[in-house]
Amino acid sequence: MSTGAPHAELDAIRAAALSELEDALDEDTLEQWRIAHLGRSGKLTLVLRTLGSLPAEERQALGAASNEVKALLEERLAARREAVQSKGLETLADDAIDISLPGRPVRIGRYHPSTQIMREICDIFQGMGFQVVEGPEVEWDRYNFEMLNIPKDHPARDMFDTFWVDANQDAEGGFTTLMRTHTSPMQARIMEAHDPPIRVVIPGKVYRYEATDASHESQFHQIEGLAVDKAITFANLKHTIYEFARQLFGEGRKVRFRCDYFPFVEPGVDVSIDCFKCDGSNPSCSICHGAGWLEIMGAGMVHPRVLSAAGYDPSIYSGFAFGMGPERIAMLKYGIDDIRHFLANDMRFLSQF
Ligand code: DAH
Repeated sequence: MSTGAPHAELDAIRAAALSELEDALDEDTLEQWRIAHLGRSGKLTLVLRTLGSLPAEERQALGAASNEVKALLEERLAARREAVQSKGLETLADDAIDISLPGRPVRIGRYHPSTQIMREICDIFQGMGFQVVEGPEVEWDRYNFEMLNIPKDHPARDMFDTFWVDANQDAEGGFTTLMRTHTSPMQARIMEAHDPPIRVVIPGKVYRYEATDASHESQFHQIEGLAVDKAITFANLKHTIYEFARQLFGEGRKVRFRCDYFPFVEPGVDVSIDCFKCDGSNPSCSICHGAGWLEIMGAGMVHPRVLSAAGYDPSIYSGFAFGMGPERIAMLKYGIDDIRHFLANDMRFLSQF
């Protein structure tokens, strides 16, 4: 360093540094700037290093001036750094990726309550040796009705308000395909395709052409059960249903069987459990309304005509069958007051399960 015009050189260093600082737009450039101007081999440091070789007077003046420049550059660097940092955050906000922000919570999915209850029911029957099978939702009249002992013009067809599918017609122009009104047609399909012994449960969607209200929907689910073998009796049906009711609704549940009519079983029954909420002791119980009993399914011994239609000899084989609505069972179990909740897709309802 020349000793001729030390302050002029300092001025030059300062001017160059400040002008370069204007161009520093990110932290990397700022750091390079700091090394170049304030670092150990920076220009200002070099000036300070020469001080020792100067005469005392000059040394003092140049030392003070250099320190002033150093302080100024440090101050400007700090200010610039702050500006770059806050500017940086704005830029990051524009790009919408800030890896330092906490993650957004992800909504964890869940199974629909109908699926949950169906799995729970099927699990119970699987534990008793039943297989789970599924069948078609668009069905032939033959399986949905005829093979189940419900011939054409049979009054029992009125039990099942049917959505007909106009894809196929018989000689008289009647429709022969429909949206299955129950899962029972799978009884005929399974017996037709397999030899006994048979133990199956069949979960699936069914359809009814009817007005909807709190207890009716035009689409819902059923779970069908079928057991066929030599020497199957009503006692086997009772035991199976007792076991099921106790596993699903709690130990000690009572089960009631009352005569009922379904064309495909003889005898036919409706099955109820005693009210698990009030045990029949509360006339204003929100679940049984004081009746003390809750209907949970239809059942019976497979009608000999149904066995024959599927190719089984009813003098050798017998069986029991049952059919239930999982939505109805979930409504009882969880105190749901309207079946329409199941298909309304309202998260306030769905997220409770
Ligand atoms: N399929 C009947 C319905 O939808 C329910 C039913 C009743 C099924 C008795 C059965 C049974 O297997 O044995 O109303």
